[in-house]
Amino acid sequence: MKHNTALLLLLACSFSLYAQKSSDKKIKPRNEFIPELMAKMTIDEKISQLVQYTADGTVTGPKTGINYIEEIKKGNVGSILNATSVKYTRELQELNLKNSRLKIPLLFGYDVIHGYKTIFPITLGEAASWDLKAVELSARVAAEEAAAAGVHWTFAPMVDISRDPRWGRVSEGSGEDTYLGSKMAVARVRGFQGNDLMAANTVLACTKHFAAYGAAEAGRDYNTVDMSERVLRETYLPPFKATVDAGVGTFMTSFNEISGVPATGSKFLLRDVLKGEWGFNGFVVTDYTAINELIPHGFAKDSANAGELALRAGVDMDMVGGIFMKNLKKLLQEGKVTEAQINDACRRVLEAKYDLGLFHDPYRYNNEKREKEVIYKKEHLEAALDVAKKSMVLLKNDNNVLPLRKEQKVAFVGPLVNDEWNIIGSWAASGDRYGYAVSVQEGVNKVVTDKGKVTFDKGVEIVDPRRDMMQAALDNARKADVIVAVMGEFENMSGEAASRTSIDLPGIQKEFLAELKKLNKPIVLVLMNGRPLTLNWENENMDAILEAWFPGTMGGDAIAQTLYGMNVPSGKLPMTFPRNVGQVPIYYNHKNTGRPYLGPTDPEQKYKSRYIDVDNSPLFPFGYGLSYTTFSYSNLKLSSKTVNMNGSIKVSVDVANTGNYDAAEVVQLYIQDNVGSVTRPVKELKGFEKVMLKKGEKKTVEFTITPEDLKFYNIDMQFTAEPGDFEVTVGGNSASGLQDKFVLVK
Ligand code: GLC
Repeated sequence: MKHNTALLLLLACSFSLYAQKSSDKKIKPRNEFIPELMAKMTIDEKISQLVQYTADGTVTGPKTGINYIEEIKKGNVGSILNATSVKYTRELQELNLKNSRLKIPLLFGYDVIHGYKTIFPITLGEAASWDLKAVELSARVAAEEAAAAGVHWTFAPMVDISRDPRWGRVSEGSGEDTYLGSKMAVARVRGFQGNDLMAANTVLACTKHFAAYGAAEAGRDYNTVDMSERVLRETYLPPFKATVDAGVGTFMTSFNEISGVPATGSKFLLRDVLKGEWGFNGFVVTDYTAINELIPHGFAKDSANAGELALRAGVDMDMVGGIFMKNLKKLLQEGKVTEAQINDACRRVLEAKYDLGLFHDPYRYNNEKREKEVIYKKEHLEAALDVAKKSMVLLKNDNNVLPLRKEQKVAFVGPLVNDEWNIIGSWAASGDRYGYAVSVQEGVNKVVTDKGKVTFDKGVEIVDPRRDMMQAALDNARKADVIVAVMGEFENMSGEAASRTSIDLPGIQKEFLAELKKLNKPIVLVLMNGRPLTLNWENENMDAILEAWFPGTMGGDAIAQTLYGMNVPSGKLPMTFPRNVGQVPIYYNHKNTGRPYLGPTDPEQKYKSRYIDVDNSPLFPFGYGLSYTTFSYSNLKLSSKTVNMNGSIKVSVDVANTGNYDAAEVVQLYIQDNVGSVTRPVKELKGFEKVMLKKGEKKTVEFTITPEDLKFYNIDMQFTAEPGDFEVTVGGNSASGLQDKFVLVK
């Protein structure tokens, strides 16, 4: 933790190095400059600001055939995505300014999700750290490097709550919980935007995908979402709102419909909630060709109608689809859209460019010297290692088979044992894979210098069923004291357009594990994956399981240092791991129903809400994670057993490190509202604190509960707290802990 703070301070003080420079043009304050500029602009020039095309750096969606270079030459473009590097963005900016009558700079956007070049764990893995400073640091480093490479704007944070691991994009979010997701979202906005957007090492953030994209039916990407407004507002919207309160500069609409209305055409979402209720003053970009997709949604009859519906709903910028460029002027002439709507959208975009300092100096992000100095800076790689170590989740460790000892003979096997490609995960921006990312094999070789102690064999592929490598791996494993199997998914088996109907380990990896099991040696399973997997057999047959997610550029070092005890795993699951895919959606903050199943001891085993063919609990619950040490909780105290609408209750608990390793524990506070005017979840996360405890040390951890924490949308859709009985649970995961009660009175 101290290490993190030092890094954050180091990076934060760098703001001053890149704040407004003497070379900046002296221009008027925004509230004068923008209106004066817009007064000079033609309608065509205003519409151009609402147009974004993709360069050919990275492909992040279907081809459209639009020639972005020609469009820039015609002065038809306000923003470009997927162009990176100082050189490339400078060239495009020069081309733009040469053809822009009023010298309006281009805005360069890019998907910097968990790092630009120095890649951090996938964001689901970062969420597993439950360490907000670590997550902010990750975004801060990402912004430093992206900004140094000419990028002004990142399409992050992705804040979609999801309860369905079949959906590949759970890898990009922060899991199933609204409270944790909201905290993570704010940490990322702060990391990306810093405290001064004018500084040349901060980037505009973009909260996406608005909204409820993670609730796609059956976990199939882009699929239909249908939910009550209550569920939308209580579960899916709070992380978005939290980023507005944190000052996020932009939003991105989602591909999906919600209850019949595509988000990109939803006036309710964009004008009523986002810009109206929440007072959002930034601008809204669509997702990639999402306006065009209003047609196949069956919501718009043609391209002109799609453009009309999107602008009227509150979209400000058209990503890639060319619909605004093609139709807005004619729609205006036909009176189907208004100049006020175009002006409002244009103003919002221009204000963002002003806030970034692009009118002061359109080349402020184009400094080759800085690009060379900043990217892959030692401090950045250290930060990536630090965050990766904090994201590791230990799911099982029978007989303390972990940590390994250097004198042991260890056979490292599995398709990901020497992998440098998948280890940085999906959405890895400009991250280098081969030759740069640290593989597990490389990481282990740094820790274990006696090469006679370790062997490395793939044994099998991730998906390919070839068996010709298995015997060599088994031969080496037979000679070892311990076997470590590094397995999982391809990086592109999660992320966008990567939904799976089975969430088992793919290919014949499990078959290989069964062969290894026959050797009767301890087996440690290390997982690299972008979603919760179904691990029933593995949990019964492996001695230890370490969830490493896709841990990033320094992933091999993080895994090796964790396996050999130089790092004590402290992560907790941000998403439930089901026993099988038939249980999905399964999440901790579910409703009780009228016939709650109490488990094997329930006196009524039939007429209960349960499956008859599987244990109804999750395999690993939300918030779960082990350590190499043990923790004990005691002395749960509430400052009072009643609280009124203006009061608060202090909750304290003692946590002791009762094992043999200094380690961190994530102390979690859950609250249940026993009775409401509408049914309430069996519990909800309302607080957490990651505390470092030396072996033998005990600390008292405190939380404060206020009626604000107890609010929900009541039977009349009013966001309020209702008097009544509440239960408090404090522990190291969502399935157990010390309990107490209190009453909320009027
Ligand atoms: C993609 C993704 C979105 C991304 C955008 C630009 O389709 O849905 O998350 O930011 O296009 O690459």
